[in-house]
Amino acid sequence: MSKSTRLDSKENESKKLPIYLHKATLIQAVTDNTFLVVTGETGSGKTTQLPKYLYQAGFCKDGKIGITQPRRVAAITVAQRVAQEMQCTLGKEVGYQVRFDDCTSQSTVVKYMTDGCLLREILADAVLPQYSVVILDEVHERSLNTDILLGLLKKRFSNPAKATKGRSFPLKVVVMSATLETDKLSAFLGDCPVFVIPGRTFPVTCAFGFAVGPKDLESTGYIKEVVKVALEVHTSEMAGDILVFLTGQSEIERACDLLYEKAESIDYRYDVQDQTMEGLLILPLYGSMPTDQQKQIFQPPPAGIRKCVVATNIAATSLTIDGVKYIIDSGFVKQLNHNSRVGMDILEVVPISKSEAQQRAGRAGRTSAGKCFRIYTKEFWEKSMPEYTVPEIQRTSLTAVILTLKCLGVHDVIRFPYPDCPEERFILEALKQLYQFDAIDRRGRVTKLGELMVEFPLHPGLTRALLKAASLGCQDLLLPVAAMLSVENIFIRPGHPEKQKEADQNHRALAAKSGSMNDFATLLSVFQSCKSSDRPSAWCKDNWIHWRALKSAFSVETQLREILLRLQQKRDFPVETFEGNKSELFRRCLCTGYFTNVARRSVGKVFCTMDGHGSMVHVHPSSSLFDQEDKLNWILFHDVLVTSRVYVRTACPIRYEWVKDLLPKLHEVDVYELSSVAREEVTDEEMMKWEAREAAKRQQEISTEEVM
Ligand code: CDP
Ligand code: MG
Repeated sequence: MSKSTRLDSKENESKKLPIYLHKATLIQAVTDNTFLVVTGETGSGKTTQLPKYLYQAGFCKDGKIGITQPRRVAAITVAQRVAQEMQCTLGKEVGYQVRFDDCTSQSTVVKYMTDGCLLREILADAVLPQYSVVILDEVHERSLNTDILLGLLKKRFSNPAKATKGRSFPLKVVVMSATLETDKLSAFLGDCPVFVIPGRTFPVTCAFGFAVGPKDLESTGYIKEVVKVALEVHTSEMAGDILVFLTGQSEIERACDLLYEKAESIDYRYDVQDQTMEGLLILPLYGSMPTDQQKQIFQPPPAGIRKCVVATNIAATSLTIDGVKYIIDSGFVKQLNHNSRVGMDILEVVPISKSEAQQRAGRAGRTSAGKCFRIYTKEFWEKSMPEYTVPEIQRTSLTAVILTLKCLGVHDVIRFPYPDCPEERFILEALKQLYQFDAIDRRGRVTKLGELMVEFPLHPGLTRALLKAASLGCQDLLLPVAAMLSVENIFIRPGHPEKQKEADQNHRALAAKSGSMNDFATLLSVFQSCKSSDRPSAWCKDNWIHWRALKSAFSVETQLREILLRLQQKRDFPVETFEGNKSELFRRCLCTGYFTNVARRSVGKVFCTMDGHGSMVHVHPSSSLFDQEDKLNWILFHDVLVTSRVYVRTACPIRYEWVKDLLPKLHEVDVYELSSVAREEVTDEEMMKWEAREAAKRQQEISTEEVM
């Protein structure tokens, strides 16, 4: 097939999508309204078609069309698809931007991006003058950044008198969602109209399994079960592709390996029901996969071959794979949750909600009747699965967004128009953290440091450490570390036990090479060794390191360096001096950002955290500190892993003196005081009274600390 006929067929394909019949009325609805909610079944063409229609209708004459996605993979693959349909090179008229990867140019007018990117653009200019239309997509996912964007756009543009302030023409805001909660959304946006794209869906029969119950949650026994069911479907069901839902990369890779292995032994003459079947094409799909591999997912399989896509939740609504007739649902999802036991956000595997399970099942009924095989029992459905998924804003740390809001001049972060209010204690926790990092002062106002911090797309603690290093002139120690902590895991962990041993040995040697028992130093050393190597990809292979992850780390480091350089050119960038050796300097910088993550050894190999939660933690076996615990007293860590125990990963030893002056900050501020600061402007007189009270309290704390 020639290139142009392939494009024609894509164009024709897109005319078959349900949204196509409503093209003219949709364009009219966007023209007539400032806010519009658009809803329709997943796969009806909202994400790929609406921006194209608006472009064709001339909406790009004054400005760009920006479309946000909660997931980076969705932003990238959809942009690729739309560029193809609009017959342009990706990065020209149609482009995308995700954190640390900008594929747009001067000529980009249809821009797909993550919701985090648009939030950064609002930070640069709150009225978004370069846009004519902003489309918030996948709003039903209720990602933290999308919820904040909803509130900000409502606040800024719902008052017609204020809406054009700072702009030469009005902005259009379209909010897109799969059928859920559209009345609520419309009410939130001042009762704006809801445009419903009628969908065609076919019935999907769902069956529950026998094997997986709540007990399997920890054993990940569901991977084997999923593989078993997938093979059963392949051999006993008629043609039609399979979509399997698992939770993350390593699990998906394991399931794919098992599937390959088992599928090899199928004898297509005797074992399969559908005699037109000749093979199984197994394709993984997860967020951090290379994009060229992701493209394959959307291509129809060759005749006689059944496609089996093993995916994360990304395939539930963000991406639609045509031809899927069978769903295999593990019942689990990986989710970022605030863990009150350790006072941090943790990525955990949890049961999906019932509404999520229905959404997953629905993916089988797009083009004909389908089947959904749930591997969990009816009992698991009834007892362990919640009705709805809790919005991210109500279950994760708000530190970064609250700083963003404050930098946008939203002083009262408690009464901000959130689509669903987070619990007040989460807001207070965020304010407390920002205060601890010196990003806001006691009045809840953004400090100079806070203004610098907000520029970095990193966790505030990491940013704080980086800025400390920069003020001491040793950013070269921290920039690579920040980059390495921002990409996916760089250490390869092979499934095969022998190979795993070999990899472990290599990784231990890398840690030893960095000279000190310090996982951060190991990251730095890996970064530098690879960068200075003549053949970096071969170096990675020899050392069991993911070359792709390191390549991204190189690019992230450059980008962070650029941000830093830009900020350092400002007049009042802080400058400090330090005397001492490099290893101490390095760890002291880390202490400035991670003093909230400090633990002291209590007995044996058990450490106790200092943040007021007093959790008991262990060093993770992957850390270079593992098995050396008895030589350590104080440690600092980057993150934690909760299984039956709480493990700290990426850690280094520190000295108490380095954090002595910082630790009281963990307790000195009364969150309820900060909350009243957040609520209203405080007079100077009140402030002085409060500061006097705080000083008295601190005095008391210092005396108790001396006893410690
Ligand atoms: O946003 P919504 O769920 O309504 O639909 P969409 O994502 O615009 O998908 C419309 C069609 O485009 C589906 O048939 C997808 O399979 C197809 N598509 C594709 O082939 N390749 C992509 N990268 C994205 C979408
Ligand atoms: Mg969509």
